[in-house]
Amino acid sequence: MKLLFINGVNLNLTGMREKDVYGSQTLEQINAEVAGHFKNDECIFYQSNIEGEICSRIHSAAGEGVNGIVLNAGAYTHYSIAIRDAIAAVSIPVVEVHMSNVHSREEFRHKSVLSEVCKGVIAGFGKNSYILAGESFKL
Ligand code: DQA
Repeated sequence: MKLLFINGVNLNLTGMREKDVYGSQTLEQINAEVAGHFKNDECIFYQSNIEGEICSRIHSAAGEGVNGIVLNAGAYTHYSIAIRDAIAAVSIPVVEVHMSNVHSREEFRHKSVLSEVCKGVIAGFGKNSYILAGESFKL
């Protein structure tokens, strides 16, 4: 399987920001663990802080034979209609993920504009949220 893991805004600072919420491992270390878990699959990792670049990466996945996209859009989750439309524009299944349990946090994090166009949502399992989301494409 070809899996694309997209991390959005501020997730490049994972391991450095709000360690009590997101843990102390860097995104690079988390990606390495995810790649190790999916060693029999092809994993592509992409991170951008820029909304339009995330949209373009979702678009280009369509021509690359990607079977599933695991998307942690960060704060864009809560308001990016552009990313929502990019997901709706491609036929690749997308699973929305969050490392933290967004429903146990501030009220503005309870709302996602992406969930409706995603196959499903996984939140609250730290780095394992990415693994659970990737595994979901195999069911
Ligand atoms: C997050 C949750 C978002 O609300 C937040 O803005 C993030 C990270 C998570 O992985 O828990 O940047 O997506």
